[in-house]
Amino acid sequence: MATAQGQRVILVTGSSSGIGRATADRLTRDGNSVYGGSRRTPDTQPEAGWTPIPLDVTSDSSVEAAIGRILEQHGRIDAVVHCAGISVAGAIEDVTVGEVERQFQTNYLGTIRVLQAALPSMREHRQGRLIVVGSIGGLIGLPFLGHYSASKFALDGMMQALRIEVAPYGIQATILHPGDIQTDISTNQLEGSRTGAESAYHGRFKATVETYDTAVTRARPPDVIADAVVRLLDSRRMPPRVIAGTANERTGVVLKSLLPARVFELIIRKTYGL
Ligand SMILES: NC(=O)c1ccc[n+]([C@@H]2O[C@H](COP(=O)([O-])OP(=O)(O)OC[C@H]3O[C@@H](n4cnc5c(N)ncnc54)[C@H](OP(=O)(O)O)[C@@H]3O)[C@@H](O)[C@H]2O)c1
Repeated sequence: MATAQGQRVILVTGSSSGIGRATADRLTRDGNSVYGGSRRTPDTQPEAGWTPIPLDVTSDSSVEAAIGRILEQHGRIDAVVHCAGISVAGAIEDVTVGEVERQFQTNYLGTIRVLQAALPSMREHRQGRLIVVGSIGGLIGLPFLGHYSASKFALDGMMQALRIEVAPYGIQATILHPGDIQTDISTNQLEGSRTGAESAYHGRFKATVETYDTAVTRARPPDVIADAVVRLLDSRRMPPRVIAGTANERTGVVLKSLLPARVFELIIRKTYGL
């Protein structure tokens, strides 16, 4: 398929809802040729006009097929905006190793699969932009979302290294860390199988998760992240890391680096009543 001059070919993962959906819609409205990948794909063409493709980031063959299809149609991918992610909640002790594996299969290894599939063509064309959606929870360890946080911390570290590796090939990479955003993330959240009433952490776990859920319900819409993605794609040079949060959320990240760890920990405990 021919692509109009100036139009970018972009894969947005996690396009069936939330941040991915808003980003795919926005990039399509801006005139790009957008493919939206997720496990659930709409029966009809999305109103915004992007092309849905089945994608399960936990499957090598699914990721290869999705990227292969875009390369077959356009011969290149100019950008990947990787939004696919899940959260598994529970005290560190209450989430089984199998459930932690599921968290990492999607958030960390899923990202690696997508990046590894997109990079050879980008290197060949000596251009490309990779935007991975992390989380402020990947900069500050969130109680009862510790495994989710760990998966996002892992992404942050990996992206620091990737940027340097791919720069000689004209490829830019960054991680975008949102604060709370109003999406289905809480509804889609999985809970560790040992988090029930028998758990020593049960009461505090439930109260903390409720605080997170309320914050997401009252948070900014996913369009603010779509806007941040557009700014990154239009920028001459993408910075290593972007924190897309409210003033309070960004202050939290700064305070973590400025305050003694014990004082910062007290603030976190007070915030969540722990
Ligand atoms: N909302 C927030 O407050 C917030 C804050 C910081 C960071 N984030 C991050 O933003 C990203 C998007 O989350 P969201 O808030 O938009 O949540 P969401 O509404 O639950 O969307 C998650 C998306 O990921 C997709 N996904 C999950 N597992 C997948 C898999 N195995 N293969 C392919 N796609 C998969 C889902 O599609 P299918 O289920 O159809 O596959 C869905 O489209 C996540 O990485 C999340 O960690 C969110």
